[in-house]
Amino acid sequence: MCGIIGIALRDGNVVPLLIRGLERLEYRGYDSVGIAVTGPKGVTVRKGAGTLERVKRRLAFHELRGSCGVGHTRWATHGPPNDVNAHPHTDCTGSIALVHNGVIRNYASLKAEVEARGHRIRSDTDTEIIAHLIEEALRSTGDMVRAIASALKRLKGSYALAIVHSSEPGRIYFARMRSPLILGLGEKGNAVASDIPALLEVSRRIIVIDDGEFGWIEPGRVKLYKLTADGFVEVPEAELAKRVKVVEWTPEAASKAGYPHFMIKEIYEQPQALRDTLNGVLEDPAVRVAAEAVAGARRVYVTGAGTSYHAGLVFTFMLARLAGVAAIPLIASEAKQYRDAVGEGDVVVAISQSGETFDTLELVREYRELGAKIVGVTNVVGSALDRESDYTVYTRAGPEIGVAATKTYLSQVLALTLLAVEAGVSTGRLGESDARRAKSILESAPDLTAASIKLGDAISRDLSGKIDRQSIYILGRGLGALLAKEAALKVKEIAYLHAEAYPAGESKHGPIALVEEGFPVFIIATSDSPEVAGNAIEMAARGAVVRVFKPSDFELEVPREKAVVYELPPSGGELILEPFILIPPFQLLAYHTAVRKGYDPDKPRNLAKTVTVE
Ligand code: M6R
Repeated sequence: MCGIIGIALRDGNVVPLLIRGLERLEYRGYDSVGIAVTGPKGVTVRKGAGTLERVKRRLAFHELRGSCGVGHTRWATHGPPNDVNAHPHTDCTGSIALVHNGVIRNYASLKAEVEARGHRIRSDTDTEIIAHLIEEALRSTGDMVRAIASALKRLKGSYALAIVHSSEPGRIYFARMRSPLILGLGEKGNAVASDIPALLEVSRRIIVIDDGEFGWIEPGRVKLYKLTADGFVEVPEAELAKRVKVVEWTPEAASKAGYPHFMIKEIYEQPQALRDTLNGVLEDPAVRVAAEAVAGARRVYVTGAGTSYHAGLVFTFMLARLAGVAAIPLIASEAKQYRDAVGEGDVVVAISQSGETFDTLELVREYRELGAKIVGVTNVVGSALDRESDYTVYTRAGPEIGVAATKTYLSQVLALTLLAVEAGVSTGRLGESDARRAKSILESAPDLTAASIKLGDAISRDLSGKIDRQSIYILGRGLGALLAKEAALKVKEIAYLHAEAYPAGESKHGPIALVEEGFPVFIIATSDSPEVAGNAIEMAARGAVVRVFKPSDFELEVPREKAVVYELPPSGGELILEPFILIPPFQLLAYHTAVRKGYDPDKPRNLAKTVTVE
């Protein structure tokens, strides 16, 4: 999975805008980068392995001039991250340059075919084949629209493409199949990109491109076509105009705004993200409709990947507690686990901040085909999950660029807790006054998060220098066991420590064997589980260095000589507030540990933020 961008300006140099757009797309991959600019001398390509910061200096991107160009930041799938495999890729003549996000499954047979017809393939990528297919089709049709349509018909798999041709220096062609692609329509020009933040410098007026659509942009002009069984048809301009949406996100929201990294900025943005999510969900009548579907379902599956799955675990907990509904949590890539049991009357609650995660979308498509209704929970309006859901609940965390999900996790937890409250009203477990009370309690979540960040920052800075092992446990019981999973994921992916989350009660059935003198054990103590004190003492008795994180008003009987106890803001005994208190210190621990070790928290190795491959 990669990030693509194309910008066609009325005048001026497009290169600085391409670079700023690529900075916002780097979360999608950062092992190589490249741009192609069109001008009087044809298409000029500069590309190479490494991060944008390095490659743009090494290859002097600033020397390039032109008002139209495309750019790419790569997360390698086919072929190692080297200069040759970096995008853009060109045809044999060098007139066509294109960037691609997706995977062409039949590239090996296409490659053999075009090579047999004399094309010289230079890279190991699946992408380059597309440039050669367009080149061939252009020779026979003499027209780029027809040539692109004919090439697209040959592709199996997924693609978002941005393409330039030297003979049309002000135009960018684009196409989409199962990889996200958005148009931005602005006064200074038009743009196309994998995600909204990359477009914000050009415009906040967007059109989400659908699967099977392709077309072109020029400054002030757009043409859109749809592939059909026997060719393609033009999408009428009136229909196109109806699809224009204005997004609330600003360019500032997608910048570091003086912070050293996006991750720390986004951790600190959590109180505001929670306020926006709370107001948005409370005002959205669709949430109650979605909750009724959940409450009335034959069976409820709760799915997502990574952090979104962890938010789903908290939802299953809250749904049982607040609505008396037992739901089945399911990691999205494990769809096969229940596929034989899914049918009419079932509801899938699918959670994805990007709304574009391949595994989540595949599960949604498959389970919907089997008869389930879909409640999507996403941060991106117009994302594939949004469009493919029967009901959508929006989190309103604003753009999240750091690879680690932080503000979107707590926003998901808040939106999902509110969904569980509404489901409780539907099942009759909660009366209207109980629901009002729960909502007013949740109104203090943003301030509690702000207070937890303040305390957690000092605690975690100090702790980041004290973890001298490569492996740690993060334990909890009840809600705490579910929060521990997210805490451990943050520490693993950003600080590169092996952090294992375990239900504290279960740890004595095996994992405790690893505990020896000095082994670090963190405990997330939630007020539903006072018995976790016993687990802390057990661990300490085996030599573990035990650190307990708890709301300050939760009385826990852990002798001071057995554990360091960190007192976080009080929850008033309200369990639904405790994720907002207990998670920030662990996000900060991951961040400060990474910075102390010299790792880049925004670019953890081997990861990309949105995983659009299988
Ligand atoms: O966009 P999504 O919420 O669907 O993404 C799911 C995961 O890929 C994502 O949460 C991932 O685990 C993050 N790196 C977590 O920090």
